Amino acid sequence: MESSKSRVKDPLVNDGIFFGGDYNPEQWDRETWLEDVELMARARVNLVSVGIFSWSRLEPEEGRFDFAWLDEVLQLLYDRGVYVDLATATASPPAWLIKKDPTVLPVDHEGRRLSFGARQSYCPNSQSFRSAASSLVERLVDRYSDFPGLKMWHVSNEYGCHVSRCYCENCEAKFRSWLLKRYGSIDLLNHAWGSAFWSQLYGNFDEVNPPRIAPTFANPTQQLDYYRFASDSIRELYEMESEIIRRRSSKPITTNYMGFFKGVDQFAWRGVGDFVSFDSYPDPHAGEVHVDCAAGYDLTRSVAEGEPWILMEQAPSAVNWRGINGVKKPGQMRALSMSAVARGANGVMFFQWRAAKAGAEKFHSAMLPHTGPDSRIYREVTQLGEDLTKLSSVVRAKVNAEVAIVFDWNNWWAIELDSHPTDHVLYLLAIRKFYGSLQRLGVTCDFVSPSDDLSSYKAIVAPNLYLCSHDFAERIARYVEGGGSVLGTYFSGIVDENDHIVLGGYPGYLRDVFGVVVEEFSPLRPGESFEFTFANNPVVRRGTIWSEIVRATTASVLAKAVQLGDVESIPGDPTSGVLFENQFGNGRALYLSTEVEDDFLDLVVQRLLGEGGDGVTNENVEVVQRGEFTFVINHGGHVEFSLNRRCRDLLSGMELAEGVSLKPYDVLVLEDV
Ligand code: GLA
Ligand code: ZN
Repeated sequence: MESSKSRVKDPLVNDGIFFGGDYNPEQWDRETWLEDVELMARARVNLVSVGIFSWSRLEPEEGRFDFAWLDEVLQLLYDRGVYVDLATATASPPAWLIKKDPTVLPVDHEGRRLSFGARQSYCPNSQSFRSAASSLVERLVDRYSDFPGLKMWHVSNEYGCHVSRCYCENCEAKFRSWLLKRYGSIDLLNHAWGSAFWSQLYGNFDEVNPPRIAPTFANPTQQLDYYRFASDSIRELYEMESEIIRRRSSKPITTNYMGFFKGVDQFAWRGVGDFVSFDSYPDPHAGEVHVDCAAGYDLTRSVAEGEPWILMEQAPSAVNWRGINGVKKPGQMRALSMSAVARGANGVMFFQWRAAKAGAEKFHSAMLPHTGPDSRIYREVTQLGEDLTKLSSVVRAKVNAEVAIVFDWNNWWAIELDSHPTDHVLYLLAIRKFYGSLQRLGVTCDFVSPSDDLSSYKAIVAPNLYLCSHDFAERIARYVEGGGSVLGTYFSGIVDENDHIVLGGYPGYLRDVFGVVVEEFSPLRPGESFEFTFANNPVVRRGTIWSEIVRATTASVLAKAVQLGDVESIPGDPTSGVLFENQFGNGRALYLSTEVEDDFLDLVVQRLLGEGGDGVTNENVEVVQRGEFTFVINHGGHVEFSLNRRCRDLLSGMELAEGVSLKPYDVLVLEDV
């Protein structure tokens, strides 16, 4: 019998994988709509997201609504078997609302009010925006909740994408009430903010402002709280719209997240909406596009607590918003889409259906390019649509990862604040490095937040955990004591949740579990490095970015510095340890005190995994287990490998055993026979 953990909950279990994209009929005439639905049907599109940027069409002036065109479009779609992910259309307010109340426009941290004429031109705390958005959503839900083609609700769009923090007067007032709620008294705020420093003590909440441009560094805790407040403010919008929908409709609700996006703490938004969706825009010119994609997919599954999610947007080929917009190679879009399915997606969607003729996104690729259906991209889209129909049995299966990376938005905000030892410690780079190493070792991982249960994981990796509350440190300690393995790195355990240093030696509350004390650290300049050796191996390794003087208290030293690159600038101790291992209760804690090269990182991660690490597999061949299905995706050149069992490939229908050869971007979805 299968455990409930390996089976999915509703609401995403339909009769297959959703396939389609954003559809913007308001930019086209009726004749084009007719062609659209034909070509969608041909490509086996079964879901489109409609109305995301339609507010000015749906409500051309305040209180005057025009739904006739949308009625017609939705019916045309439904008649061809295309369901709708109906947007609440609140992603971009119309010009009349701005005219009526210019304070709807957001203000940047230098006090400049941003103008209308792009999109997302609203302050999340504007009451005018909130009431206008609410009344639009009420009307939409009233009109369409019984429409038989309605599959789900798409609230707003990429919350925070362009404006994740507004610094206007509305926000100032809201920030004060948020602080009052958090601290209860001004004394507690003063304590948390360390405002005895630089004469910042406040007498009451009315004196407190957002961290706008100031003569020099703003109070770090004020900045950290502003990140928290801003993420909470936008979450309120999502809650507001969801509540309106929930009162009138039973269809599932989602909003499309942006993965590793700094402005929105997705873990703190859990519980709003019914399922999670994600927009994936890796740079095709980047080195390991598939690893970047996979990281976003795994984060999304983790935010979804293991439940299926929808890849709501990706580009069929190029985007329009980078300096140089690389195209996806033939077959690459399909391979990256299959990777999403492998990692838990029950929908593969695009931005957008038909390439725009006008506007800022006219050079963004689309499922149906400017050229029309006689094009590489439309043919690839059609092929993918057909392939996805063969994977309907996958939708009920879940991915179970045994390893997790700690990912904490609070830490991200705090570690990258100003006035730190260096501005070269970048959280996402660290996360990406460890993620890359796990991929090279063929290990699928989850991401966990500090409030998640760690007990089901064999090992966890917590790079650069600068901000670590006493509570989280305790939970890490209990986890290791109980037999878990943890890997931490330099500049960890430095501060608590208020960004106050934990005194007595770093890594603060994590000293015991790692069995080390860091007395002093020293950042390195670009190009600077120091050398160390691992175990009794004479091979010299390099540390960059950071060095520190670490003493083992109970840990054993596995790697040691041998010589410092530039003695004058590094107050490091040549005999200091670099990699430590501490037996703690029934588990182990590894501590790495510098930034290392990938091959050494892989050794460290393998050591963490113990028996589990099989060594580096082919890093371009992605192998992921989703329930009983094994996805094999080739992101590199021609490759041969052998299967140790008899399988059937769901895509080709062929039975395979032993020798298998894959061309670039080939995909297999294997099931045992
Ligand atoms: C985001 C938005 C879309 C579109 C794409 C372009 O994902 O949600 O509306 O602008 O970017 O890449
Ligand atoms: Zn504001």
